[in-house]
Amino acid sequence: MRKPIIAGNWKMNKTVAEALTLVVNLRSALDAIPAVTSVVCPPFTALAPVKQALNGSHVGLGAQNLFWEEKGAFTGEVAPNMVAELCQYVILGHSERRQYFGETDASVNRKVKAALAHGLIPIICVGENLEQYEAGATDSVVRQQVNGALVGLTAEQVAGLVIAYEPIWAIGTGKAATGAAANQIISLSVRGPVADLYGEAVAQAVRVQYGGSTNAKNMAEYMQQPDIDGALVGGASLKAEDFIEMVRITANVRG
Ligand code: 13P
Repeated sequence: MRKPIIAGNWKMNKTVAEALTLVVNLRSALDAIPAVTSVVCPPFTALAPVKQALNGSHVGLGAQNLFWEEKGAFTGEVAPNMVAELCQYVILGHSERRQYFGETDASVNRKVKAALAHGLIPIICVGENLEQYEAGATDSVVRQQVNGALVGLTAEQVAGLVIAYEPIWAIGTGKAATGAAANQIISLSVRGPVADLYGEAVAQAVRVQYGGSTNAKNMAEYMQQPDIDGALVGGASLKAEDFIEMVRITANVRG
């Protein structure tokens, strides 16, 4: 019942020209796989041209961040309505933003509310670091991040969210979590607190991705898991053939 969703987080990669080349190479292949929602998240500078290149396509477009204020003297920031003018999705609270740019559960929550107020679908990122993982703190860390991101949201809003469980030790390292381990955390520490706060129906409605060193080789392992609804893909989303293959595998496993 939950439609799989594969999103490519391009991070700080691709000029406008490079982004257009990638999206032209993705477009028709992804449009031929309607059973999976595919989304690309280029850097801000490429959003408008990529939107144009996707005109008439069902490939979704997402930003990688936004600021919660509506407008004004916030040099360098991008307002929610500016993102909503171009995108349907926005990645919020990515671990790189938490680590390098001081984002907290409270700031992520403000951004989630701003995104929802403008009709955007947030892709909220949660996940423990290596030290927390080794200390056995994964459940409490992820639970706290989920609870923190959802403060003040309605059940209807939460049901429409996408949450990405990305263990930080698995991001860009080639050390992916196993499908079974990722599924367990998603069930226990992501859907668990959603069920506590909003009930089981909402916990079963929210789509949850795994992220961290996903690729065409390990994608089937994740998609065979009952609680994993897709992936938030970093490195492998920068190459058209890899990303297309991951979406294809998802359709095959879930189809
Ligand atoms: P990698 O797929 O490169 O490990 O990155 C994952 C990620 O951070 C996606 O948001």
